[in-house]
Amino acid sequence: MVEIGELLGILTAVLFGGAILNFCVKFVNRKWVMKLPKESKFKQGYTSVMKFLVKNHRFFGFGAAALMVAHVVVQILFRWVSITGLVTAGLAVVTVVLGVVMFKAKKRTPAMLWAHRGSVIALIAAFVVHVITRI
Ligand code: HEM
Ligand code: HEM
Repeated sequence: MVEIGELLGILTAVLFGGAILNFCVKFVNRKWVMKLPKESKFKQGYTSVMKFLVKNHRFFGFGAAALMVAHVVVQILFRWVSITGLVTAGLAVVTVVLGVVMFKAKKRTPAMLWAHRGSVIALIAAFVVHVITRI
C-alpha cells in the first residue's frame, strides 16, 4: 500500500502538471509559435496539442483532485497525516473552486484569472515543500 500511496501522489502531481501546461503552452505560443508562418508543420502540430490541453484543462484539474483524494486516504491510513500535504490539498481545493467559478461565470474578469493563477502558484510552492520535507 505504501507504494500505491506514493504512486497516487506522483500521478496527482502529473495531472496537476497537465492543468498547469494550460499556461505554459499559451505563453510559448504567444512568444514564439504565433510568429511562425501559417504553412509551418511545427506550428500546425503545436496548435493542435495546445487546443487539446486548453479544451481539456478542467478535466486535468478534476482528475488531479480525484487522484489527490485517493492519495490522501491511502497515506493517512498507511503512512502519516502530512501537514504540508494537507496545506497542498487545501490549496488544490481552492484552485478547483476558483476554476469552476471562472468556468461558470457569464463574464470572465482579469481578477478571476489572477485569483486562480495565484492559488496555483501557492499550490506549487506547497507541493514542493510537501515532497521535499515529507512532514
Ligand atoms: C495536492 C495534494 C498532494 C499531492 C500532489 C501530493 C503528492 C505527493 C508526492 C508526489 C509524494 C512523493 C512520493 C514519492 O516521491 O515517493 C507524496 C508523499 C507523501 N504524501 Fe502527498 N500529496 C498531496 C497531499 C497529501 C496529503 C493531504 C497527505 C496526508 C494528509 C499526504 C501524505 C503524504 C505522505 C505521508 C507522503 C510520504 C510517503 C512516504 O514517504 O512513504 N499527501 N505526496
Ligand atoms: C487544480 C488544478 C488546476 C490547475 C493547476 C489550474 C491551472 C490554471 C492556470 C495556470 C491557468 C492560467 C492559464 C492562462 O494563463 O491562460 C488556468 C486557467 C483557467 N482555468 Fe484552471 N487550473 C486547475 C483547475 C481548473 C478547473 C477544475 C477548472 C474548471 C472547472 C478550471 C478553469 C479554468 C479556466 C476557465 C481558465 C481560464 C483560461 C482558459 O479558459 O483556459 N481550472 N488554470
